[in-house]
Amino acid sequence: MLYPLETKRTIFAQIFVCNGCCCGRTEKGNPAVPVDYLKAEFKARKLIRNVQVTISGCLGPCDVPNVVGILTHTEGLRWFGNLTEHWQFESLIEWATKVKEAQAALPLPQWLEAHALTPMVESMANSAVA
Ligand code: FES
Repeated sequence: MLYPLETKRTIFAQIFVCNGCCCGRTEKGNPAVPVDYLKAEFKARKLIRNVQVTISGCLGPCDVPNVVGILTHTEGLRWFGNLTEHWQFESLIEWATKVKEAQAALPLPQWLEAHALTPMVESMANSAVA
């Protein structure tokens, strides 16, 4: 049986927030991930139809605390890490709210650039750790 491949949802961005084996594991000495805050704000602001937030298991680069992936049509999948402050998650909520209001994928908050990471490489020949 074939199921439809069209969705009624108009998604402009998806935010993957790692809450896996290391990110958010305060018992391991890592900074907390405000999962309940994020879920509550996304629900209260009714963001989910335009900006998805996915609280995920391990995204891979565990040696960087609190990894977030943000996927937009305009920027593709971008990776960020070391999100250790609550204001940073508040800023992501504000950005998502503006995306909903604009009904468009907006540029990511500028402060994120200082947290950009590149966990994937084409080959070890192109890797900084080669
Ligand atoms: S637990 Fe977050 S990257 Fe592994």
